[in-house]
Amino acid sequence: MYGAPCVEKLSAEQKERVEALRARGRGVCLAVVRVGDDPASEVYVRNKKNACQRLGIESREIHLPGSVSQAEVEECLDKLGADPDVDGILLQLPLPRGLDDKAALTHIPAAKDADGFRSENCGTLICGGEGTLPCTPRGILYMLKHYGVALEGKHAVVIGRSAIVGKPAALMLLGENCTVTVCHSKTADLKEHTRRADILVAAVGKAGFVTGDMVKDGCVIVDVGINRTPEGLRGDVDAVSVGDKAAFITPVPGGVGKLTVAMLMENVIELAERRTGLTEA
Ligand code: GUN
Repeated sequence: MYGAPCVEKLSAEQKERVEALRARGRGVCLAVVRVGDDPASEVYVRNKKNACQRLGIESREIHLPGSVSQAEVEECLDKLGADPDVDGILLQLPLPRGLDDKAALTHIPAAKDADGFRSENCGTLICGGEGTLPCTPRGILYMLKHYGVALEGKHAVVIGRSAIVGKPAALMLLGENCTVTVCHSKTADLKEHTRRADILVAAVGKAGFVTGDMVKDGCVIVDVGINRTPEGLRGDVDAVSVGDKAAFITPVPGGVGKLTVAMLMENVIELAERRTGLTEA
């Protein structure tokens, strides 16, 4: 399951929606706040800016020095929150040591939370209602549906319980009527669980962690890992040993990673549409 065809399809639809907003005299704008000089963050932010440019979305990058105070980061987010021209705000994580990610995120209004990291938006995953979904899990679900993977009644096993990927992915799979098991670093006999997975989502952060002996024949594997190794980017799944067993697998690079940025664009456009009254609030 490659990411590129999904992104191509999404981009065509997204361009039209941006055009439709512009026809109403309304540009779409994403503000990205980057603090310090983390090289990986610089690459991620550049990818996000390029995606905006391709769709005709205005992107504003606010780059603050690593020496800023918590109050200065929060003041910057407050200003963007109050700016009527800004539809979506993203605070690139992680922040430099000494700054508090969680406290800073509370300064992004939920209605402009492009990443879906605010607790109000996480809450809609459990309680329902209108909110913004986190980009990577949204991309995982989009991919599974795009490639026609049946979800209802299937056993989905998620390895990883982060607030950004594992937990929301598990809730979204549950929303599709999967039976969901969430595994993590303290899970006893991990293999026992993963071998029963019809759909396996690996969000571990360890290169080649999932091996062929851990999966069953015919399973569908979504590899969320992006691990920098001396051999280049590698996923959480050892693609060689699972190769013959999996019915479908997402490659790294070229799989889910591409969808994360595409889903960020989806979120920003949705936020702009809501603020314009194009969708019911
Ligand atoms: N750092 C790594 N991935 C992400 C992401 O999806 N959003 C933000 N804000 N920071 C990140």
